[in-house]
Amino acid sequence: MPMAGLRSETDCRTDTIRFVLDGEVIELENVDPTRTVLQFLREDLRRTGTKEGCAEGDCGACTIVVAELNRERDDLTLRAINSCIQFLPTLDGKELITVESLNRPGNDLHPVQKAMVDCDGSQCGFCTPGFVMSLFALYKTNAEPTRIEIDDALAGNLCRCTGYRPIIAAARAMYAEQPDADDWLRQASGTAKKPEARLQQLKSICRDAGLAIEHKGRRFLAPASSDELAEALAKHADATLLAGGTDVGLWVTKQHRDLETVVYTGRVDALAKLEVDATHIDIGAAVTLTDAMAVIVTHYPELDELFKRFGSPPIRNAATLGGNIANGSPIGDSMPALMVAGTTLVLRSLQGTREVALNDFYIDYEVTDLKPGEFIERIRMPLPRQGTVLRSHKLSKRFDQDISAVCTAYYLELDGDSVTSFRMACGGLAATIKRATHCEAVIEGAVWSAETIALAAAALAKDFAPITDMRASAAYRLRGAQNLLRRFYLEISGELEQTVYAYGRQG
Ligand SMILES: Cc1cc2nc3c(=O)[nH]c(=O)nc-3n(C[C@H](O)[C@H](O)[C@H](O)COP(=O)(O)OP(=O)(O)OC[C@H]3O[C@@H](n4cnc5c(N)ncnc54)[C@H](O)[C@@H]3O)c2cc1C
Ligand code: FES
Ligand code: FES
Repeated sequence: MPMAGLRSETDCRTDTIRFVLDGEVIELENVDPTRTVLQFLREDLRRTGTKEGCAEGDCGACTIVVAELNRERDDLTLRAINSCIQFLPTLDGKELITVESLNRPGNDLHPVQKAMVDCDGSQCGFCTPGFVMSLFALYKTNAEPTRIEIDDALAGNLCRCTGYRPIIAAARAMYAEQPDADDWLRQASGTAKKPEARLQQLKSICRDAGLAIEHKGRRFLAPASSDELAEALAKHADATLLAGGTDVGLWVTKQHRDLETVVYTGRVDALAKLEVDATHIDIGAAVTLTDAMAVIVTHYPELDELFKRFGSPPIRNAATLGGNIANGSPIGDSMPALMVAGTTLVLRSLQGTREVALNDFYIDYEVTDLKPGEFIERIRMPLPRQGTVLRSHKLSKRFDQDISAVCTAYYLELDGDSVTSFRMACGGLAATIKRATHCEAVIEGAVWSAETIALAAAALAKDFAPITDMRASAAYRLRGAQNLLRRFYLEISGELEQTVYAYGRQG
């Protein structure tokens, strides 16, 4: 039962989550706030098709697909996510699709599964349900994927025995199978459910009100508006703000932290908005990276490779830009580019709103300018000005799903061969992401030449004194940043292509 008084925090809250599974509405009352969807599937429902490999979003064995109502388009958005780090209450109002949901009447294989069998895409089979679900999301959302799109769709799935070639062959072959005809969700009766009916069913369980769950003294609050969110944070000083959970989820699954009060941003209307006005891309802090990056890349196409190298699609489908900025990690990948672009953050609390430059937001290692009770409401990234260049480079051991050793970004304005404006920001070189002010001072106003870049690269040593850790040595990090700056120079001079994304990935 809800704790006395909890419901009064905000009228109309409910303590029961509702979601659709195989055509049925599942209702669960006062669930454990940090129980993962994977635990629920395997331990409560005994749907053991979904596997646990790493419990930290890395291997993809736990991949599920979630369908969500898009009210503006009156449509469904289908996305693969990692169930191992997704907390169960976040499913409220959505449709959960697991590998078992792909069963068809008569036990016929789904086209994705048939293609995996026909192409020998599985050996021990442990990773297979995860691959099937990533491919299923691709099958449903992209009728004719390129090789690069197939690789990207599978970037979050690891296989130790089969190797990827047969799985990529299956990703191509699945379209030649008997089409799915949108009937993948078998109802209990075994009859097919038409998308329109599914849309209506999701509408029937969607609600505008917030959630307030109480479970053995721990709470999960999901306010529906910024005011309610500010209220909840003011009331619960110990609260953990939860967005996509791709950081917070690991605090529970890996660090075994006991989160007493979780306040979820995923239902707050203002935080879900994504708008472009005359001067800015205005991104609600709870907008997923997948959605935010799609809009940013239409204005800054040169950031495409950086974003494709951010985690994997299941991570980007859950994670938010607000979470990436707020966690204050010195190796967060979106911040260098946002910083040199001149991005500002709209911070909100019960006291009102204030706008701060991202440049001034980080104070020390994982310490930000956020005051108690304050949260990021919106991220405002200026639109590019004519004739300016903004690029970012990520240096990591693997192309996909890896954490940066160094991440750099540059903003450049030239007048002929004179630099009228230059900004550079780096991650992985200090306790916080920060601008390279000595390096900038060398380049700004100078002639854009190899000699200037050599001086500026040397000045990076004054800006940063990196540390050595398991990812890279201090010397490697500094040399890496210096070489990436040289690479930027060579790209701008036309001596190097901007991207390596397509290398080895054709055909
Ligand atoms: C497998 C894997 C791969 C990853 N790869 C990358 C990568 O390539 N590059 C990279 O940069 N990161 C990576 N990450 C880290 C993570 O995905 C990102 O930091 C992500 O953007 C976090 O967003 P989230 O919505 O999941 O945040 P959450 O986990 O929900 O929250 C993160 C932090 O932000 C706070 N927070 C969330 N929203 C707000 C808000 N509106 N206001 C104030 N505080 C808020 C939370 O309280 C918490 O402290 C990876 C993580 C995993 C598990
Ligand atoms: S179990 Fe490895 S990503 Fe979830
Ligand atoms: S088939 Fe064994 S891990 Fe992929």
